[in-house]
Amino acid sequence: MVEKENIVDGVHSHGRDEDWVKPTEPAVLEHLEWFRDQKLGLFMHWGLYSQMGMMESWGLSDEDKDWSYGCWDWDESKECQRQYRKLNRSFNPIRLQPRVWAETAKQCGFRYIILTTKHHDGFCLWDTKQTDYKVTDPSCPFSEHKYSDIIRNLFDAFREENLGIAAYFSKADWHTPHYWAPDRNVGGETSRGANYDPAAEPDRWQKFVDFTQAQMMELVEGYGPLDVLWLDAGWVNPREKEDIRLDLLAAKARSVTPGLLFADRTVGGLYENILTPEHAIPEHPMTSPWESCLVLDDGGWGHSFDHRYKSARTVVHLLIEIVAKGGNLALGVGPQPDGRLAPGAIRILSQMGAWLEKNGEAIYGTRNCAPHAAGKWFFTRKGDIRYAILPLAEGDASHGIFLIPAEPEGGSVHRITMLGHPAEIPFRRTEAGLILQVPVSGTLSVTLPETPFALAFQLE
Ligand code: GLC
Repeated sequence: MVEKENIVDGVHSHGRDEDWVKPTEPAVLEHLEWFRDQKLGLFMHWGLYSQMGMMESWGLSDEDKDWSYGCWDWDESKECQRQYRKLNRSFNPIRLQPRVWAETAKQCGFRYIILTTKHHDGFCLWDTKQTDYKVTDPSCPFSEHKYSDIIRNLFDAFREENLGIAAYFSKADWHTPHYWAPDRNVGGETSRGANYDPAAEPDRWQKFVDFTQAQMMELVEGYGPLDVLWLDAGWVNPREKEDIRLDLLAAKARSVTPGLLFADRTVGGLYENILTPEHAIPEHPMTSPWESCLVLDDGGWGHSFDHRYKSARTVVHLLIEIVAKGGNLALGVGPQPDGRLAPGAIRILSQMGAWLEKNGEAIYGTRNCAPHAAGKWFFTRKGDIRYAILPLAEGDASHGIFLIPAEPEGGSVHRITMLGHPAEIPFRRTEAGLILQVPVSGTLSVTLPETPFALAFQLE
């Protein structure tokens, strides 16, 4: 029961190499190498919940109330759930400017985006034909806006900036009557799974399978080409008797988009092409394709009114560690209910982008090498070239004598340069490792800028 083991306090935590099954199609394998090159994804949870600055969907499931922390008053939970359902009638992000989102993402160094097309609450950000619980239905004020088909407008804008596209899609849908049947459990407790036994009611379940497959195919055919279909709600899987026939869907979808990747998270098997450890970085490097799903705002995945942002330095350090361990960082940033990316978040992300602008060569398109780290240093490689990266804390010296305590695999180093610095860095080899003499960047007489987030060296 991989699924159960992987759930910590209700959220999926750790993907593992043992869960990964190597795909056989050459187009998929090739696309996975593309994925590994990207390194940095912008993970956006946007939906009805954003309006309230509260946790996405989970308050609708009574079973999950203990951990889906105070998003509302639990004595009034049934009333709150009713009110949540009606948030489609006020969702109106009229300040949305898809091109600005795309340009911002690009400038901050992101190479792909993951966007919620539908979270567990079932509200769809695209013009689906399978339900009217969607942004383009007249019941939603934003339906009159020129960008009302949010997914189309955003995906098109991201593609124009050459960013990869992952469509987050929740397999569970707490709105369709084919999953939470209204004639079942009336007024009773809700839980995350279907509220009937699919084996005992195959016809009902088949309707849900048809509904879900039709929605996924709409996205694949009408909103593609997608790079990744990112499937959440890991409890919807054949082992739990909630089989949505992903095998059939995948064959159809890949005939439209060859090499389409699936992230059927925590399920294992042929359609979990990418592992997605959540709120965690694996302790050791992993060999399978993976992305750590972390949040910029410790308040959660979606927009919150009381931001607790990580600093740009922290995010850059997380990125370095993840990349050195062979993974990608999918960084969660919740767009605002007014349609903008939060200015406070963008300020932080632009600082990250500035670091990447100068040092991205040591990050993008690299693979991990052995050792992946030594002392405070992290290593990456690209072909014969290796990179040694040293995260710096505020106030650390960024010039002077440094020791790289191990030489990463790939032959003995004969030349060292620092990214963003023109001259070769003098060094000597000792028993303790490579000793570098790092000059002050710029002229010696100027005052030093604030400590850079990290120094990156190219080793040849
Ligand atoms: C967890 C959360 C879910 C969120 C996802 C993103 O599974 O429960 O709401 O969408 O993480 O990784």
